[in-house]
Amino acid sequence: MLVLGLETTCDETAAAIVRMRPRGGGEILANEVMSQIAEHAAYGGVVPEIAARAHVDYLDHLIRRAIQVAGVELKDLDAIAAAAGPGLIGGVLVGLTTGKALALALRKPFIAVNHLEAHALTARLTDNIEFPYLLLLVSGGHTQLVAVRGVADYLRLGSTVDDALGEAFDKVAKMLGLAYPGGPKVEKRARTGDPQRFAFPRPMQGRAKPDFSFSGLKTAVRMETERMAPLTNTDIDDICASFQAAVVDVMVDRTRMGLRAFRERCGAPTALVVAGGVAANSGIRGALQRYCGETGLRLVLPPLELCTDNGAMIAFAGIERLNFGLMDDLDFAARPRWPLDENAEAIHHGKA
Ligand code: KG4
Ligand code: ZN
Repeated sequence: MLVLGLETTCDETAAAIVRMRPRGGGEILANEVMSQIAEHAAYGGVVPEIAARAHVDYLDHLIRRAIQVAGVELKDLDAIAAAAGPGLIGGVLVGLTTGKALALALRKPFIAVNHLEAHALTARLTDNIEFPYLLLLVSGGHTQLVAVRGVADYLRLGSTVDDALGEAFDKVAKMLGLAYPGGPKVEKRARTGDPQRFAFPRPMQGRAKPDFSFSGLKTAVRMETERMAPLTNTDIDDICASFQAAVVDVMVDRTRMGLRAFRERCGAPTALVVAGGVAANSGIRGALQRYCGETGLRLVLPPLELCTDNGAMIAFAGIERLNFGLMDDLDFAARPRWPLDENAEAIHHGKA
């Protein structure tokens, strides 16, 4: 089975072609991604209108390139999958409409993929792991712990009540005058800083429900920054290191509670899977590696290019859904908000 996947929910335009492996997992034949970072950098964040226009400009070209790189023809495809949300509506419409048009013209099945489901299933694409597993999704738009019980069977155990973690990294970076996207820059400065110089709060630490909150931590950083202005380079390094130390403590604590909630409701997980752009952070990766080592839990960290937004995860989610006979009509509407667990209480302050 050969599927084309389109991703346009945020600031990455992506098209990929994935083939299902006979024993599970997927083979990525092409994974074309165009990042719009340069277009948004001047504004310190993603501007929805600029993103939508850039998706229109890039997508056709990326699809053509994916077909070329994969060495296949459009008629060889078995289905077209496109991310239908959650995300910025203008961008989602570009990918969704393009996917539907291709499916209609080629007379192939169409699959509307939940972007979060695609992140959730990526570990099966790369590592062919079994259900059920615990997913820690940490990106610029989402921060949640999810029990992945099967295809189309998710239970959100906890999520952020305010900012996403990537957003918190980006905002702290902005306060310190570091360029967008700030996460990687904060990590770099943290390496040479003193993680104990500032005792920043660890929001939600110890709470039984594995939710997250980052606004208090962000405010604490802002207050410290304003109090000390003007900052020296050492001050900036130390703030980054102390901020990241607080984040790392919170992530380990929340994951521990997530695991407890998972065991109560779903039994033993096969693994802990970490996905999303913030999974690139080596402080967080290292701490989770130590934690999983101590608890004997398998840790799956998909390669970075599959942790951040990409088309391969959309194509693979399409494959998984198609295997379940799950297809969608061409009148499927874009969903700017689309919780992974639709039965869960809707979260209106987060992005999903
Ligand atoms: O998943 P992603 O590429 O895009 C979406 O948000 O969907 O995640 C981007 C986010 C940005 O907020 C960026 O600052 C953050 O991930 N990020 C990092 C690191 N690399 C990327 N945050 C902390 N440390 C990093 N090394
Ligand atoms: Zn994402």
